[in-house]
Amino acid sequence: MTGPASETPRNGAHPAPPVRLRAHVTGWGRYVPSHVLTNADLERMVDTNDEWITTRTGIRERRVAAADETTASMGAVAGLRAIRTAGISPDDIDLILLATLTPDYWMPSTAALVKEAIGNTRAAAMDVAAACSGFVYGLATGQAWIESGLARHVLVIGAELLTRFLDYSDRSTCILFGDGAGAVVLSASDQPGGALGVELTTEPQGAYMIWLPAGGSKSPPSPETIARGEHFIRMEGRETYRFATKTMATTALASIQKSGLTPNDVQLFIPHQANSRIIEAVAKGLGLPMDRMFTNVQKYGNTSAASIPIALAEAVNEGRLRVGDRVTLVAFGAGFTSGGVTIEWTADPLRGPVGEAAVDPRDVHVRLPVDWDSVDPIPPALAAVMARPGPVDPPLDDVVPGEPEPASQPTAR
Ligand code: ACO
Repeated sequence: MTGPASETPRNGAHPAPPVRLRAHVTGWGRYVPSHVLTNADLERMVDTNDEWITTRTGIRERRVAAADETTASMGAVAGLRAIRTAGISPDDIDLILLATLTPDYWMPSTAALVKEAIGNTRAAAMDVAAACSGFVYGLATGQAWIESGLARHVLVIGAELLTRFLDYSDRSTCILFGDGAGAVVLSASDQPGGALGVELTTEPQGAYMIWLPAGGSKSPPSPETIARGEHFIRMEGRETYRFATKTMATTALASIQKSGLTPNDVQLFIPHQANSRIIEAVAKGLGLPMDRMFTNVQKYGNTSAASIPIALAEAVNEGRLRVGDRVTLVAFGAGFTSGGVTIEWTADPLRGPVGEAAVDPRDVHVRLPVDWDSVDPIPPALAAVMARPGPVDPPLDDVVPGEPEPASQPTAR
């Protein structure tokens, strides 16, 4: 047995300095369900309108998972696409981290289901609970595993199925959220670049500003909790908005400074896609023009932990990042939490479309329980809208207020 690494060997030779491992993003992928829920659809469900939603949030439409889709199934497709983009095999992954606030079940973890669905036999797998900041928290954890030598390849997924946790009579929340998944592969390398400075914060005084009251040990599910609608997401919008605009720029800046950089050294910012006004406030706080902020909230709404990895995959595939560029990912969410990580991009952006095309969602299967079937998971108000033929609604001006809707357009409330 040899002595401690710090001892000078007897022959006087100095030991080689330890290799510094860095976590590079080598793969990225995304998956969004095909069903589109427009603002016009929501106008038929609650007392809202397209003008209010677009001016206050920037959201025009969001995606809704089909009855046979779950957080695990969407996460597995995004994860497998990231693995194919990285050009590795599923069994090369040592650790799977899945950030979500909408797991398939309380237990097992959604990450465990994803592990099997992607065909991995050796990884440790666990979920990360930090709401919309969950993906950045997961990325920071994966980075630490790689830099410490615990893992060579880490799959970090953000996946959410929020449309099953929304109260479709509460117009202040149901218009905001959508479903989807995104993922990255982090790989160990002794080359410079990859994930640099990380900033993570948690401020529990905001704990009840965004929360889901029932279903946990404080308030187990019961007919009473259901009657009170306590199994749906609740939110104090203004307080959350205030926290987000106060925190996002500060968190991004701390991550950039810990990377030894200034905001001007960062070519692209990928903020959590909650609200375009919040993204504008981040740009203002950092003294940067909006063209340095990537935005796709108009297409998907707020997909919580999935929003940053979906946006990252789209940004790379659209040519917004080149080798050598720096990108800062920054999130805020329930907790209140926030997270920022700055990355020096080192992967060939052209690999993204290859990885995406390599995985057909119909070929990815999540294990189902034996002798048990869930009830129809789609909320009734949504089911009525989803059953309507075709994604395009007739112009709203054609519907006279108070008049019964045509039989082919059932009202969903
Ligand atoms: N359509 C029409 N009117 C509406 C709607 C709607 N969908 N929702 C609310 N209103 C009304 C309100 O009732 C209120 O009416 P009143 O003045 O007659 O009382 C008026 O609009 C203004 O309501 P506010 O809540 O003050 O509107 P605000 O400008 O704050 O915008 C919003 C609301 C968009 C929710 C904003 O507060 C926001 O984006 N907050 C942050 C939310 C967020 O990002 N949450 C995600 C957190 S991440 C996570 O971890 C899940």
